[in-house]
Amino acid sequence: MSARNAFYAQSGGVTAVINASAAGVIETARKHPKQIANVYAGRNGIIGALTEDMIDTNRESAASIEALKYTPGGAFGSARYKLKSLEENRAEYERLIEVFKAHDIGYFFYNGGNDSMDTAHKVSQLAKKMKFPLTCLGIPKTVDNDLPVTDNCPGFGSVAKYVAVSTQEAALDVLSMAKTSTKVFILEVMGRHAGWIAAAGGLAGREPGDAPHIILLPEVPFDEKAFLARVRQCVEDYDYCVVVVSEGAAYPDGRFLAEAGTRDAFGHAQLGGVAPVVANMVRSKLGYKYHYAIADYLQRSARHIASATDVKQAYAVGKAAVQFALEGKTAVMPVIKRTSDAPYRWRIESAALSRIANKEKMLPKRYIAKDGFGITEACRRYLEPLIRGEDYPPYIKGLPKTAKLKNVPVKPRLNTKFVV
Ligand code: F6P
Repeated sequence: MSARNAFYAQSGGVTAVINASAAGVIETARKHPKQIANVYAGRNGIIGALTEDMIDTNRESAASIEALKYTPGGAFGSARYKLKSLEENRAEYERLIEVFKAHDIGYFFYNGGNDSMDTAHKVSQLAKKMKFPLTCLGIPKTVDNDLPVTDNCPGFGSVAKYVAVSTQEAALDVLSMAKTSTKVFILEVMGRHAGWIAAAGGLAGREPGDAPHIILLPEVPFDEKAFLARVRQCVEDYDYCVVVVSEGAAYPDGRFLAEAGTRDAFGHAQLGGVAPVVANMVRSKLGYKYHYAIADYLQRSARHIASATDVKQAYAVGKAAVQFALEGKTAVMPVIKRTSDAPYRWRIESAALSRIANKEKMLPKRYIAKDGFGITEACRRYLEPLIRGEDYPPYIKGLPKTAKLKNVPVKPRLNTKFVV
């Protein structure tokens, strides 16, 4: 069989290491020219396939692809774009297959989270129905760490490290001011429905009394009275109080403490702004001076303080996706299987997309402290290896060096336009 082309797309919110997965795909594909001729990347994710706007990664030098390993963001552009169900919008899926046919694409690599694994699964089903030979692989990515089956998700370890490091550093700042000035510091982190990122803030504290003193998780319904009592207690006992709050923190009736009021293409509420809500409570009910920070995109793009474990795993899942595809596996995703906590050991296995699509993995009860405001030893054991190791990017004139891709378009072969 002659070599066919591969399509690779980044999907959903990007991470500090999603480009390392891209490098894993491209470098591995380049080692198998007899099976994979070119890797075409979707400009702005799946939209690039629908609009036949693809990037020819063969035009990039080996050095540029290597540089992806230390470049945050999505090098080809990502998209929050949900393909509807086959019944609702078959035309979209047929268009994908039409583009793939025109460019002799035999491999589809989709790098994203839960929703994207659903899309990859549907594309594999339709290709089969349409008798178009297409090998479909999901590649895991999400800072939220909420994909099932895999022990953890590439992207998470680096956010976790950023949040733990920032909590530790900011805590020293607040402590030094606490006698005469700021008493409470609140750090807001991402995570939508799952509290993995907020839990990682807990790694900053080792001894009783260490910051963070309170973690507000989406898994634990927010109890204002108990929260304020704990803040007061901390200030009385330690002079200061550091709070890590998840953007997904919610009241017992499910309402988010802060919802921006907008929704994305997947129907997810846009979150953000919970820190000022919590800070206002502290000020108005307790009268303490506060500072707060919203880590927002800083946490997701902090490649300078990435976890070496995370970078390694992000590359490994990209590489494994290509290897699985070449072994003839389809409708699967490489997953990380932990084989030991200490020493930390892991390997890559494959799991069916149908087991992963549209499912969210929350922080289990055994990882949450009894009072709901912290993490347990078991949680610490799980999290610690994921933030381990540093993988600093090269620096030029004091700033991290990043990849500069040419992103040359693949010449369109279809005369039809597709509007998304
Ligand atoms: O991809 C997950 C995530 O990083 C969430 O934690 C966050 O709520 C969301 O993306 C933000 O998405 P966007 O960048 O599309 O606003």
